[in-house]
Amino acid sequence: MNKIKKVVIPVAGKGTRFLPITKTISKTLLPIVDTPVIQYLLEESVASGIKEALIIIGYNQNDVINYFNTESTYVQKLNKDYEEIKYIKKLKNQIRISYVFQEEAKGLGDAVKHAKAFVGQDDFALILGDDFVFSDGFKIYGIGSLCKLYEKIPSYYLGVHEVPYDKTFKYGIVDPESSLSSCFKIKNIIEKPKDNPPSNMACVGRYILKNSIFSYLEKTKIGVGGEIQLTDALALALAKETIYASEFAGTRYDVGSKIGYVEATIAVAKSRSDLKEEIEQYLKQ
Ligand code: G1P
Repeated sequence: MNKIKKVVIPVAGKGTRFLPITKTISKTLLPIVDTPVIQYLLEESVASGIKEALIIIGYNQNDVINYFNTESTYVQKLNKDYEEIKYIKKLKNQIRISYVFQEEAKGLGDAVKHAKAFVGQDDFALILGDDFVFSDGFKIYGIGSLCKLYEKIPSYYLGVHEVPYDKTFKYGIVDPESSLSSCFKIKNIIEKPKDNPPSNMACVGRYILKNSIFSYLEKTKIGVGGEIQLTDALALALAKETIYASEFAGTRYDVGSKIGYVEATIAVAKSRSDLKEEIEQYLKQ
């Protein structure tokens, strides 16, 4: 059976929308309640059957590596075996984490190029940390929904979500080939359209990419924002490849924005047995 076993997670942005905290803490380590975003992304990957993760880090992001160090001095000095630390150890047994360094933040397309050695000949998943997908009770959610589609028909899959038309300029927007259904073929994709977006279906940080993406990335010229855009490589790929867009299970929050981050925090708090009652009481006030 065709299975996606590897995930790539680029986290090398400067996180300026979350200054001042991102001055010393990587954005991907910001906690939703008490657990960093990156840990949720790995949990989502494990739930999808993925076994290996590559985290692409930039300068000053040793904090990401340190977070997953369960043999640190801090841990050694603890006077008991905390469940939270045991859980990180367990997670690391379920998914092997490696890191690669991206010297300059030259765009998502450039970040993906850094994954070539890790990916080898395989097709792979890509998860972006600004989009947090809350499981909402689903066992397989977010990237897992796309992995399931890939198992049936191995192809490119882009996780999409309907956004208001006045927000389309923030996203990669797909142009559906046929009428919309939960999974549909696309005929084009445009990065951050300034006007006349082809639809309001936006790419929201979950992708299954075929290995051929690397050859299209090589041909991709600098695009919006002076960066190498994955969207532009996908647009080139469309000449030869079939690309599907699909919605996925779970609720997506834009944790790259402050309001999305607060909403995600409330959603997670409401789902936790240790906080549920108190948070609901508080919200009723
Ligand atoms: C990136 C992608 C864009 C996608 C978005 C999802 O943009 O380039 O196509 O829609 O992530 O979050 P960024 O938000 O990094 O500018």
